[in-house]
Amino acid sequence: MKDIILTGDRPTGKLHLGHFVGSLRNRVKLQNEGNFDKMYIMIADCQALTDNFDNPMKIRENLREVALDYLAIGIDPEKVIIFVQSMIPELAEYTFYFMNLVSVARLMRNPTVKNEVKLKNMDESIPSGFLNYPISQAADITLFNTTLVPAGIDQEPMIEQTNEIVRKFNSLYGDTLNECRILLPDNTIARRLPGIDGNNKMSKSLGNCIYLADSEEEIRKKVMMMYTDPNHVRVEDPGNIEGNIVFTYLDVFANDDYFRKYLPEYKNLDELKNHYKRGGLGDVKIKKFLFNILNEELTPIRNKREELSKNMDYIDEVLINGTEKARIVAKENIIKFKKALGINYFDK
Ligand code: TRP
Repeated sequence: MKDIILTGDRPTGKLHLGHFVGSLRNRVKLQNEGNFDKMYIMIADCQALTDNFDNPMKIRENLREVALDYLAIGIDPEKVIIFVQSMIPELAEYTFYFMNLVSVARLMRNPTVKNEVKLKNMDESIPSGFLNYPISQAADITLFNTTLVPAGIDQEPMIEQTNEIVRKFNSLYGDTLNECRILLPDNTIARRLPGIDGNNKMSKSLGNCIYLADSEEEIRKKVMMMYTDPNHVRVEDPGNIEGNIVFTYLDVFANDDYFRKYLPEYKNLDELKNHYKRGGLGDVKIKKFLFNILNEELTPIRNKREELSKNMDYIDEVLINGTEKARIVAKENIIKFKKALGINYFDK
C-alpha cells in the first residue's frame, strides 16, 4: 500500500530556514516523486492557539503567509491538499475521545512539550489545552489514516505519542487506526537547524531566524551577525568549527558546485574547515560564502512569493478548495471511528 502523507505547521509567523531544511524540502521531494496515495499539509491554527490564545490576531495574520510560503517553495495544490485545521471539526471529535486514552503524567513527560513549557515560562500554569496538543496532533495524523509524517526531529515525540494512542485505541476498540512513521531529513544537522545566535533551535520566539521571505539585505545582515568562534579574534588565529554556526550551516548547504562558483580556491568543505582550524582564514570570508549560497537558494523562493502575494484571492481559493477536499475524507473516516467506539447509535 502506498503512503498517506500528512504534515503541518503552526501559523505563528512566516516560515524560516529551519522549516525549510527540516521538513519543507522533503515535502517538495515527496510531492514530486509522487509515490503516495494522498498528501496533506495542514495549517495548524488550532494548535497555534494553544499557546497564543491571548493573541488570535497573530494566527489570523499568519495563516495566509504560511500558505504563501508553501506555494513559493514549490508545493503544488494540484498534487497536495493544503487545508486549515480549525475548519475540520472531526479533528476536535477525535481529540475528545483520545483524551481518555492518555494520562496527564504521560503528557507532562513529552519532551517537546516540556521544552516549550520551559521556554515560555509556563511552569506554574500550563493551560490544559496546551498540555493536550500532542493529543490533538494525534487526531490530525490519524483522522486521515496517515502513515508518513515528514517533519523535523522535534516532532519525533509527537509521533511516538500518536502511535501509543493508536495502539491503545486499537486494543480497546478493535483494529481501526494506522500507525505512522516520521520522515527526517538525511542530513542530521538539518533535522534541527540552530538559530543564527547559536541557540540549538531556530525559532520565531527566540528571534534568531532567517525567513524564506527575507530580502537579500536581511540575509546579508543576519549572516554577518552569525555566531562563530569567540576566540577566533585575528585572522591568523586557529579557529574552532565545533558550535561555529557558519560551519553548521555550511554543513547543510554547501556543495562542490557552490565552491566552484563562489569560492574556487577551495575544493570542498573539508579543505575550508582545515584551513580555518589551522588559522589564516577570516570569518568574513566564510560568511560571504554562506551568504552567497543562502541568497542563491532563497532568491527564487522570495521572487515567487512576491509574485504570488499579488493575488491573495488565489491563495484563499487554494485553502478553501483544499479544506473542502480534506473535509470529505474526514467525514468518511470518522464513520468507522465512531462505529469502533459504538457511538454510531442510529446507523442503519
Ligand atoms: N507540531 C507541528 C509544529 O509545531 C505542527 C503540526 C500540527 C503537525 N499537527 C501536525 C506536524 C501533524 C505534523 C503532523 O510545527
